[in-house]
Amino acid sequence: MDRLLIEGGVRLRGHVAVSGSKNAALPILAATILCDGECRIRNVPDLRDVNTMMEVLRTLGVAAERNADGSISTRVLDESPIEAPYKLVSTMRGSISVMGPLLAKRHRARVSLPGGCNFGVRPIDLHVKGLKALGARIEVEHGYLVAQAGELRGTEIYLGGAFGSTVLGTANVLCGAVLARGTTVIENSACEPEVEDLANFLVAAGAKIRGFGTCKLVVEGVERLNGIEYSIIPDRIEAGTFLLAGAITGGEVTVDGARMDHLFAVVDKMRECGVEVTSMPGGARARLNGRPRPTEVTTLPYPGVPTDLQAQLMALLSIADGISIVTEKIYPDRFIHVAELDRLGARIRKEGPNAIIEGVPALSGAEVMASDLRASAALVLAGLVAHGETIVNRVYHIDRGYERLEEKLQKLGARIHRDKA
Ligand code: EPU
Repeated sequence: MDRLLIEGGVRLRGHVAVSGSKNAALPILAATILCDGECRIRNVPDLRDVNTMMEVLRTLGVAAERNADGSISTRVLDESPIEAPYKLVSTMRGSISVMGPLLAKRHRARVSLPGGCNFGVRPIDLHVKGLKALGARIEVEHGYLVAQAGELRGTEIYLGGAFGSTVLGTANVLCGAVLARGTTVIENSACEPEVEDLANFLVAAGAKIRGFGTCKLVVEGVERLNGIEYSIIPDRIEAGTFLLAGAITGGEVTVDGARMDHLFAVVDKMRECGVEVTSMPGGARARLNGRPRPTEVTTLPYPGVPTDLQAQLMALLSIADGISIVTEKIYPDRFIHVAELDRLGARIRKEGPNAIIEGVPALSGAEVMASDLRASAALVLAGLVAHGETIVNRVYHIDRGYERLEEKLQKLGARIHRDKA
């Protein structure tokens, strides 16, 4: 298995370009199942998860190819396949987002239940509730969600659960509603920029949706959607990770293409920590002199601090000048990185959904294990500032969601390279 070797202590400086958003690209690629004619999706990052989604689409009778210019073309060739198999869904939960498009367009779906993930139980009851409200019959059989519907019918749906709204659940129900008969109102829909991007894609393809970017979506069903060209938004989580990389190393990093309007909560927290974050034409810059100040962070659905930047913020707070508290409100068990950060000399104690971080003046390099995508990014950030060498094992997690991470960091001056297995 590949690993990353990092020699810490370099202040990162310069410009880095943000890639397209993974979490916007996945449901949009799934939604191309709805479109008659060819779709050409631009600004899709070259990632393992995107390749997995292309594989899922091919299994479902969709030709999906990466073009020389980096865009991805899709065209439905055969509408008879309806199964997203365990071997693919189990490697990437995002595959569940084919469920709504399949039901809407092919009236049947057989999608493997994704199972747990490295940060705990991740239910899909809200996806099921929403699609059932549109008229689908859904059973669990032999580890698969088996769904059928004659014609989906518009209705009012409340899509909130114990942990708030659901991103991919909203995507599934939205994709079901765009071809349903009549009007669908989705209350407590997720308003993450990635859901807004999906809604923009669907509208460009001919759907009628109002309220996107808010927590109430109103959808008037249409007969058909067309193939279109569409460009994915920049990845706010990758952008946030690079801004934090600049800060944690006491350097100055400009992220070209970063959308400040998607990063308000994170930028606000970074500023509380003393990081100077500046909006630039077409991007954002972060700079920090000295140690960060401690703060309290609570992850929340958008526009709150995203859970996908919790681990990276924790890496920054591990060297803060005082005690910080991080509360995880989306995935209370998403703390596997705590023990690994502690191996690098951090002093973090987990108590229920909270982590109490006693900032230390310096981290020291060690061998650590990546447990999930964002946890891996946090370990890389910590390794960039730790004294000596840090080895991050199980890099395949990073390859799921960060495009050419080490190459981009090298351009900023980092001493990081990949040891190929
Ligand atoms: N939830 C339910 N029932 C459901 C669905 C979700 O109770 O039916 C709960 C979850 O357990 C969680 C909360 O609702 O507590 C939010 O989960 P959500 O459904 O929004 O997560 P998701 O759509 O499965 C996406 C991203 C995740 C990101 C979350 C939260 C993709 C492919 N994945 O997952 O991204 O953490 O939203 O913002 O879009 C990552 O990129 O590293 C990643 C894990």
